Amino acid sequence: MRVRRKQKKERVLCRLPLIEFADFSFKYLGAETLALRRISLKVESGEYLVLTGPSGCGKTTLCRAINGLVPQFHRGYIAGNVYVDGKDTRDYSVAQLAPIAGLVFQEPENQLVTLNVEREIAFGPENLGVDPNEVRRRVEDLIEMLDLEHLRDKHPHEMSGGEQQRVAIAATLALKPKILVADEPTSNLDPRSAETILELISDLNRNDLTVVLVEHRLDLVSKDASRVILMDKGSIVADGEPREVLTMDLCQEIGVGIPKATHLYKRLKGRGLNLNSVPLTGAELAALVQEVKQN
Ligand SMILES: Nc1ncnc2c1ncn2[C@@H]1O[C@H](COP(=O)(O)OP(=O)(O)O)[C@@H](O)[C@H]1O
Ligand SMILES: [Mg+2]
Repeated sequence: MRVRRKQKKERVLCRLPLIEFADFSFKYLGAETLALRRISLKVESGEYLVLTGPSGCGKTTLCRAINGLVPQFHRGYIAGNVYVDGKDTRDYSVAQLAPIAGLVFQEPENQLVTLNVEREIAFGPENLGVDPNEVRRRVEDLIEMLDLEHLRDKHPHEMSGGEQQRVAIAATLALKPKILVADEPTSNLDPRSAETILELISDLNRNDLTVVLVEHRLDLVSKDASRVILMDKGSIVADGEPREVLTMDLCQEIGVGIPKATHLYKRLKGRGLNLNSVPLTGAELAALVQEVKQN
């Protein structure tokens, strides 16, 4: 009897979302319009959420609300609440929330504060008072995991944009966050570095890190994402599995670039050719067309 009660309690605890926006609205101080409008969103542990939408629709503000920069650093009008790992972000400082939700920005150089890679990775945990041996362990693990050995003693300014972004991700992961929030981490990178960073983010998610990624290159990320969220004018206008959201006409209406394969699928469907499922990549589309040919 006691065991059963315990199991029941654990099930209830497991259902607590890792991130919850409860009817949350935010307007920056001095701004005329809301940057976020009545956002309701629950993200479970282990999800890989891709957030997209036109410029100015509120993606960065939503990221800032997850790690507490909104409202702790960017002040303004607030209604509703954001809970991260059960904590109301109004009641915790950005430093207190950093070990739960780490934010990686668009411009890695703005995020790098020290003189070499080792120092950069150690900086966050040292400031939180983590034991020096543990800090050293984390630094070595991350240098290996993110393939940074050859950059170990380099100054951030001597690195490429892609290398800087890997260091910024390592420095964020050094706090062992439960959530990685990455706000357009590839927008200033060449296509190959961008792909490397996106593959790294997918790998981290496969290793149980919850990911919230703002990204326009949906052709590269949709296949790994568990969920795609479309935003427009401060609101969430679509939220679901990638194959469901990316076939909505709404994507084109608000100017979101869907993967080429999904676009072709929609055109074929418009001409009466029904494939068995929605492709997100060229390889998936080719396999589906092959199936039709064989039948
Ligand atoms: N620091 C700020 N102060 C005032 N207004 C801001 C600030 N940052 C963003 N905004 C405004 O909030 C709205 C949403 O912006 P943002 O979250 O940056 O959108 P996105 O990341 O989708 O481009 C826009 O109207 C933008 O001008
Ligand atoms: Mg932005």
